[in-house]
Amino acid sequence: MGKDVIIACDFPSMEKTLSFLDLFREEKPFVKIGMELFYAAGPEILKKIKERGHRIFLDLKLHDIPNTVKSAMKVLSSYDIDMTNVHAGGTVSMMEAALEGLTGPDGKRPLLIAVTQLTSTSQERMEQDLLIRGKMEDVVMHYAMNAKKAGLDGVVCSPLEAAGVKEACGSGFLTVTPGVRFADGDIGDQVRVTTPARAKEIGSDYIVVGRPVTRAEDPVEAYRRCMKDFIG
Ligand code: C5P
Repeated sequence: MGKDVIIACDFPSMEKTLSFLDLFREEKPFVKIGMELFYAAGPEILKKIKERGHRIFLDLKLHDIPNTVKSAMKVLSSYDIDMTNVHAGGTVSMMEAALEGLTGPDGKRPLLIAVTQLTSTSQERMEQDLLIRGKMEDVVMHYAMNAKKAGLDGVVCSPLEAAGVKEACGSGFLTVTPGVRFADGDIGDQVRVTTPARAKEIGSDYIVVGRPVTRAEDPVEAYRRCMKDFIG
């Protein structure tokens, strides 16, 4: 499993996304399509991006009753995507249903990973808003083990938690880590953040980088800097 940098294409339209990707003349970055863009542009955006040779992480974070998630995943399985996800908070049976829905008749499917706790959630907000009393690391590990139990390929977590997840779930269990910032960059609304170089040391498999690349003065240069710091 190759390590990679995934660019979060959090743009409001197909046009804006494609003109952003036009900037990349040499590389074909792995891209993440989230709710905003998918709801605005529809499945057509996936085709367009695939045609250009990019790999796609469709980040829709499904979270509903198992039967609904299974049916939705069945629809997603007809798209040419490389990775998609659910919220681990939907329970083990929801994740099992997701996996079943996503798997094609030939047994093939994109990677399926689970969101543990959003990297924008602090210990305090988790306790007070969600009434989850455990330590953040323990909650994340528990959710990761549930994802593993359900047969998923890995989790989305903070890079700060990636080493613990690997320890608890095995080195082959993928860690996809947003909340990445350059040491000299803006944190924005993220809380549990680290740099690409540190994410590499900790053992993330994929880092997801949005604004530090998409809002950089020179996005290609920022992407290359991420690749260099994370992969070497
Ligand atoms: O711009 P930024 O680098 O903060 O973008 C991070 C991306 O990763 C966003 O698209 C966000 O939705 C996503 N994400 C996250 N934390 C999670 C799961 C996904 O920030 N736990």
